[in-house]
Amino acid sequence: MRKKVIAGNWKMNKLPNEAMEFISELAPLVKSAENEVVLCVPYTDLFYSLLHTQDTNIKIGAQNMHYEEKGAYTGEVSGEMLKSIGVEYVIIGHSERRAYYGETDETVNKKLKKAHVLGLKPIVCVGESLEQREANQAKEIVTTQIKLALEGLTNEEVEKTIIAYEPIWAIGTGKTATKEDANETIKWIREKIAQIYGKEVAESVIIQYGGSVKSGNAKDLFEMSDIDGGLVGGASLDAKEFAKIVNYK
Ligand code: 13P
Repeated sequence: MRKKVIAGNWKMNKLPNEAMEFISELAPLVKSAENEVVLCVPYTDLFYSLLHTQDTNIKIGAQNMHYEEKGAYTGEVSGEMLKSIGVEYVIIGHSERRAYYGETDETVNKKLKKAHVLGLKPIVCVGESLEQREANQAKEIVTTQIKLALEGLTNEEVEKTIIAYEPIWAIGTGKTATKEDANETIKWIREKIAQIYGKEVAESVIIQYGGSVKSGNAKDLFEMSDIDGGLVGGASLDAKEFAKIVNYK
């Protein structure tokens, strides 16, 4: 039985004091959650959030990392740096990073490999644009992204990789994929993984849905056969709303 992972992606939002207030409000609301609860916060909130979640079941993640350990990469943060302060999760290859900061399938693959070497839990994002969807290319695009992201990983590493299927047209737009649509694409991803890494690996990989998840649609989405939770943007900025998503049942 796969565990559901409900992760908030705060993107570039919240100062440290706001992060701590949020955690104080969220912690009692999700303390009995059966699902894994993760908050992926800006770098400047990481340390404060880690301290503030110490006696809670909330896990902390970063939103990106560099694949090199150290060096002349102004403005970058390495996986080692994340690991050194106790960060557990890291988002890799979010569509906003692919669109605005030159993230490619190749850098995603390098970062993913590095995350596994360090024992960070990666959440790798894939998803098609509206044009690609309208041109009936969604499955092809997602398949390529998955293949390239996972290239060279061991079966064990693939099993430990969380995949977030986030159709770009559904991000921040209020347009959610239908539960059937999202489930079908996620099932497709699972089949592709099965073809390369075997059925056992594919059955244990956690695959989330992301794109305008909110308390009003979380239950419908998360109860589908292949959707193992969600990566939540806007709706993760409000503690009560995010708690409702975590406790969707
Ligand atoms: P929204 O939930 O705001 O659509 O964002 C989704 C997302 O990009 C999560 O990574």
